[in-house]
Amino acid sequence: MRNFSEKTLTAAVLKRVAGAPDRRTRQIMHSLVKHLHAFVREVRPTQEEWFQGIQFLTRTGHLCDDRRQEFILMSDTLGVSMLVDFINYGKVGKSTESTVLGPFFVAGAPEMPLGASIARPGTAGEPCAVSGTVKGLTGEPIAGAVIDVWESGADGLYDVQKPGGTNLRARFRADEKGRFHFKCITPVSYPVPHDGPVGRMLAATGRHPMRPGHLHFTIEAPGCEKLVTHLFVKGDKYLDSDAVFGVKESLIVSYRKNSAGEATCRYDFVLKPAGLKRRRPPPAAKSAPAGSPSSSRGRRRPSPGA
Ligand SMILES: [Fe+2]
Repeated sequence: MRNFSEKTLTAAVLKRVAGAPDRRTRQIMHSLVKHLHAFVREVRPTQEEWFQGIQFLTRTGHLCDDRRQEFILMSDTLGVSMLVDFINYGKVGKSTESTVLGPFFVAGAPEMPLGASIARPGTAGEPCAVSGTVKGLTGEPIAGAVIDVWESGADGLYDVQKPGGTNLRARFRADEKGRFHFKCITPVSYPVPHDGPVGRMLAATGRHPMRPGHLHFTIEAPGCEKLVTHLFVKGDKYLDSDAVFGVKESLIVSYRKNSAGEATCRYDFVLKPAGLKRRRPPPAAKSAPAGSPSSSRGRRRPSPGA
């Protein structure tokens, strides 16, 4: 077939990708083409605007390496990371809510004994003691749960954003009663990297790059679904305008001073069992017109263990 028009082109491309042997690939490509074409029809970009978009994506890719992930930042600041999180990690019972991983997680952080400080000696910031438990949905302690924690420095930068090596990140294991405790610095609000294309996108849309102060956590244990979450600082002025849309009320905690004048934070994490059914999408119209957002909902891939 040839001589496509604006009216016939989308159907032709959809027909072409319909030959993908893998069902999931077929579904994803069908939806991608349909929405991408609908976007272009709605925006009707000039050739110059289209090329600006290409350059934006090119610059985003060029800024990615093992220390900086501009694509994750773009996903975060456009709310896509949180949308994926909502789809994949529904709250069950009293389970702790999840939020974005963010671009600064580093696998293989040093394991430290309970009570250790993740801040190297001489690290600037207000000392803070964090403690809590890791339990299951029925309140049973999860002994040996592996807790990864990381945070920015008082200057708002993570260790991977500056020279000096690993700092303010570590891995702990909960004790036999699921308890943990460690030292860190009280988290501060900070700007996401905004010297690249994502920063220019934020500026162009009148947005600030700030995130409210938070500690990052991932918690893993056999038989449990991995939890990716934060503990936000109560009272932070950016809680309602987080640049990555990650704040949930249940994750906001007080960092109180104890009698020794040290900031303290306590939180009890609740993990849910692995393999629970994930939240299903709302029912889709059976025959929505091609190109309409409501027509994008194909049958979802069965969740593992569902
Ligand atoms: Fe962060």
